[in-house]
Amino acid sequence: MAFCKVAFTFSVIFLSCNTIVSFAHPVGFGWWGGDRAPVSSIGSAGLFPGYYRVSCPQANEIVISVLKRAISGDPRMAASLLRLHFHDCFVQGCDASVLLDSTSKIASEKNAGPNRNSLRGFDVIDEIKAELENACPQTVSCADILAMAARGSTVLSGGPSWELPLGRKDSRTASLGLSNQNIPPPNSTIQTLISLFKRQGLNEIDLVSLSGGHTIGMARCTTFKQRLYNQNGNNQPDLTLERTYYLGLKSVCPQSGGDNNISPLDVSSPARFDNTYFKLILWGKGLLTSDQVLFSGNVGNTMQLVRRYAEDEELFFKQFAKSMVRMGNIGALTGLKGEVRKNCRHVN
Ligand code: HEM
Repeated sequence: MAFCKVAFTFSVIFLSCNTIVSFAHPVGFGWWGGDRAPVSSIGSAGLFPGYYRVSCPQANEIVISVLKRAISGDPRMAASLLRLHFHDCFVQGCDASVLLDSTSKIASEKNAGPNRNSLRGFDVIDEIKAELENACPQTVSCADILAMAARGSTVLSGGPSWELPLGRKDSRTASLGLSNQNIPPPNSTIQTLISLFKRQGLNEIDLVSLSGGHTIGMARCTTFKQRLYNQNGNNQPDLTLERTYYLGLKSVCPQSGGDNNISPLDVSSPARFDNTYFKLILWGKGLLTSDQVLFSGNVGNTMQLVRRYAEDEELFFKQFAKSMVRMGNIGALTGLKGEVRKNCRHVN
């Protein structure tokens, strides 16, 4: 409900602001990540796009058909699945550790602070896995399913596609502790964001382009409340918030209670993968502190990158695709390491 209210309120505002972004810059080169391929050495060994060409040629088709069904029933699901891959990759690498349920030996990452009451999409992953097990038993890993689901969700939302290296194996362990340490909190400073991405082998270009994943999906009031009422411990809001946007957010997210009310991360087109996320940031309408500090943090090149992606959607799409491949390569288990789980929630 909160979603419709805010989206409606702000779509009006958005229309009246349409003219703000127009820059003229050369396209496709330079440090902001145009055509220059980022060095992609991180954990990429052994992954390649044709991994299932013989063993399960219909794997991606199956993923897409389940995604279509799931997203048509629940349009937010595309966003939730994109986020699931991110939360997997930042903890022990992209090994499907995030999907494991708790047992006597495993403390599930699902109970970590950034994930509890927040991560969604586990049932959709189960459905994809069940169909894949039917078609090609014990062949397609849960980690690869997460990577294919993230790409499929991006494409089905109107975003870019990319050649996806495959062949990840699934972990036999999870780490609740690393989930709490490695996944950036929503009130992060720009320095914290840069250093948490660096820990994964990702740079500022990856940070800004991948944050563009917030062009779809929702966040709970609890993740942005501090900005509305007490950003710096002086009972004042975050002054980088545009005023009308701020007033709208207060109506969805009261000072007391309402913690689970949700608001779109991209208020003008919450289900469409586009570059409005970056335009909104220029206008002081980034939802999370971590969104707004990419522009106002005044560190490194992130501010210029936000401008570049706001002005040039194609550039953003190209870089997002490259950075998703880089993120998807983090700590991949290949060869004899790991296993292909039969059920994504449990080790074999
Ligand atoms: C840069 C650091 C990041 C921070 C601090 C951050 C934080 C958050 C938070 C707090 C939420 C809302 C969760 C909730 O209220 O339950 C969220 C949602 C989301 N995040 Fe991020 N995130 C970051 C990076 C990313 C990346 C790299 C991606 C993917 C490429 C991503 C994709 C998403 C998506 C799609 C949603 C919406 C999920 C849904 O609607 O279910 N985020 N993020």
